[in-house]
Amino acid sequence: MSAKSSPHAGRRALITGVTGQDGSYLSEFLIEQGYQVFGVVRRSSSENFERLEGVRERMTLLHADLLDQSSLNRAMAVAQPHEVYNLAAQSFVPTSWSEPVLTAQFTAIGVTRVLEAVRQMAPEARFYQASSSEMFGKVHETPQRESTPFHPRSPYGVAKAYGHYITVNYRESYGMHASSGILFNHESPRRGLEFVTRKITHGVARIATGHDKVLRLGNLDAKRDWGFAGDYVRAMWLMLQQDQPDDYVVATGETHTVEECCDVAFRRVGLDWRQHVQLDPAFVRPAEVDLLLGDASKAEAKLGWKPTVSFRQLIEMMVDADVAALEAKGAHKRS
Ligand code: NAP
Ligand code: GDD
Repeated sequence: MSAKSSPHAGRRALITGVTGQDGSYLSEFLIEQGYQVFGVVRRSSSENFERLEGVRERMTLLHADLLDQSSLNRAMAVAQPHEVYNLAAQSFVPTSWSEPVLTAQFTAIGVTRVLEAVRQMAPEARFYQASSSEMFGKVHETPQRESTPFHPRSPYGVAKAYGHYITVNYRESYGMHASSGILFNHESPRRGLEFVTRKITHGVARIATGHDKVLRLGNLDAKRDWGFAGDYVRAMWLMLQQDQPDDYVVATGETHTVEECCDVAFRRVGLDWRQHVQLDPAFVRPAEVDLLLGDASKAEAKLGWKPTVSFRQLIEMMVDADVAALEAKGAHKRS
């Protein structure tokens, strides 16, 4: 179906955090569905639109910052969106210990600012909040589901818990169509280089292509429920297509250790991780989330959502992309 003949043609969506991993996949998905997409970007001294390659010309970028209410109100007034996806955040857990106040400003209070902008400027718009499995932290039950109590273990997790509850509160206070997606870790070749899967796959690619010998990591025993970002943005959209707003866990239902991730990634290029990985206490956190494993049966039953990419496929896809990118760079340099 062409975008023009799609049932969503003429619908407008506003995405905060559009330059990030999820923002790029979501904007591609919505443009394919026929949406007019408005992406919120903050000013930077140099452009960082690499992830938007291919869709940059098919969307409208608006300048606003989660720290600045008037800029958000203006973006909302210009876009007049039917759907708002709040993906912007300081999303790297270790930085939330070094910059706890800023993390709270972006990741917690920023949600209230976006909700206020929606309430004042586009009150009929449907709202999605990017909540996180980090809210479960020191988990009270396994697997974690929508009713599992929160016990965040980082300033980031605490900020996300605030963002979750303020979303629920605006739904209950003002009758807004506001939904919260409690998404477990999701990755892709576009993942930031500091997150562990990408750090591993990029490190493996550098070692395989002779750029490096060693990869330094922290806790190899931590377990995560890792899925593919392309699958997870579909779940965000499905939440906003429901008659009633609600909260949903989005996860694969499988958990793996960081060590297993190393094993799959190094094997992909014919290497043994034990020969290359060194433990570095600098990457161990002051408080750890030991185990995340999600139960997405509500999302499956109500949204018809299911993941399509397995853990192994995901890590191999990321290794292949990193090796190909480094080889292309090398070839470019030689020519
Ligand atoms: P990401 O790659 O780190 O992207 C974060 C985005 O937020 C970037 O576009 C960034 O812009 C923007 N941003 C940060 N501070 C801002 C500010 N003050 N004003 C405006 N924009 C700002 O994150 P992601 O992996 O795509 O995740 C998207 C959202 O889902 C985040 O809220 C994250 O916390 C949440 N989440 C992620 C996962 C996951 O596993 N990926 C799981 C659960 C929840 P710049 O490019 O200018 O820095
Ligand atoms: N980043 C990183 N770097 N993590 C490491 C390293 C390392 O060198 N070595 C071990 N780890 C472990 C961390 O201690 C953690 O237990 C696990 O790998 C995953 O770390 P990250 O990939 O940084 O992700 P995260 O789980 O802390 O947070 C991500 O997922 C959340 C959802 O649960 C982020 O995307 C958050 O924004 C998101 O909300």
